[in-house]
Amino acid sequence: MSEKANINEAGFRPASRIASVGVSKILQIGARANAMKREGAPVIILGAGEPDFDTPDNVKQAAKAAIDRGETKYTALDGTPELKKAVVDKFRRENGVDYTVDEVTIATGAKQILFNAFMASIDPGDEVIIPTPYWTSYSDIVEICGGVPVLIPCDAEAGFRLRADQLEQAITPKTRWVLLNSPSNPSGAAYGEADYRPLLEVLLWHSHVWLMVDDMYEHIVYDDFRFVTPVALEPRLKQRTLTINGVSKAYAMTGWRIGYAGGPKPLIKAMAIIQSQATSCPSSVSQAASVEALNGPQDVLKERQESFRARRDLVVSALNAIDGITCRVPEGAFYTFAGCQGLIGRMTPKGMKIETDSDFTDYLLEEANVAVVPGSAFGLSPYFRISYATSEGELMQALQRIASACEALR
Ligand SMILES: Cc1ncc(COP(=O)(O)O)c(C=O)c1O
Repeated sequence: MSEKANINEAGFRPASRIASVGVSKILQIGARANAMKREGAPVIILGAGEPDFDTPDNVKQAAKAAIDRGETKYTALDGTPELKKAVVDKFRRENGVDYTVDEVTIATGAKQILFNAFMASIDPGDEVIIPTPYWTSYSDIVEICGGVPVLIPCDAEAGFRLRADQLEQAITPKTRWVLLNSPSNPSGAAYGEADYRPLLEVLLWHSHVWLMVDDMYEHIVYDDFRFVTPVALEPRLKQRTLTINGVSKAYAMTGWRIGYAGGPKPLIKAMAIIQSQATSCPSSVSQAASVEALNGPQDVLKERQESFRARRDLVVSALNAIDGITCRVPEGAFYTFAGCQGLIGRMTPKGMKIETDSDFTDYLLEEANVAVVPGSAFGLSPYFRISYATSEGELMQALQRIASACEALR
């Protein structure tokens, strides 16, 4: 969870809804690493949650053409008809799921989709079940909306996946949502059909519980893993599932800020009410670009997937060669979430004892000039996340530094 921000300065009284929420630990580490870089330290940052590739050319051209056509005004509230249609087609073509245009919503990033959905559905005290480790924004958004995140630890031995018995036990009359993310940020773990089935079975028995699935990393999966989204497996849950996705990671479009979702009409309508008072609509130019991303040639996805796979293999084998670190092979996304239990209790050359994963990642940053994020930022310790969305050359250098830093521990 985020560290509490220092927001009580100069007589400012912050709203109670942000009392337990602050600037995310990931951003804090990034800021520290960048400050060190500016001071001349050769820091390698393996913390970024975005592809290092560029947005494909056809997508950029579509944006330029939209500007030239004068598509620079407010659009329909929750998405242009063109983009909604492209999303409907995408769900049908790639996921085998039929949504109509009024079951689809577009927002300023998948993050705003999550925000709209929770704002539109959560009352104070409502519970949201979140398997842990989780993307930090999940619990913070739930808390901002007055909900209670119910965090269920799912460690490396469990493949970082929630089990049906854990889900069953966590459900209470106050449970509103279960939030599943596959492939996962930060663990890279993904739910295949066999992993999903028992969970969906549990949900069928609890009709008051809705399912939110975050498929953001759908297109970054490896080896013979077959991506599947829950509604395709269990259509009976379609009327209480929100299927979230976006163009940020698949098409290297993080800065364009477009996310989308398919879900039941009453929820989609309620989300539009929130959006109408927040942003009025997503960016017109970015929506035109996203139509091209979804409808245009898709070859780029396979090419980039292959390059991410090579980097994953490099990182996993280098980490597993280090005494004290163990790394599960992730099925997708561009993160490894390695365990550092074996390093806890060791001493740094300067005489500091490594007591937590945060101590370890601080040591890596200060002494090895490598910025990675501790598991505690994602709710599960002792682990650390590496984002391998960076060049192989930089990755190799960073891994050598991590290996030497670990060897120097006593
Ligand atoms: C799992 C997951 N979901 C959603 C998002 C948000 O993506 P967007 O850029 O569309 O807001 C991220 C971004 O890091 C993510 O890791």
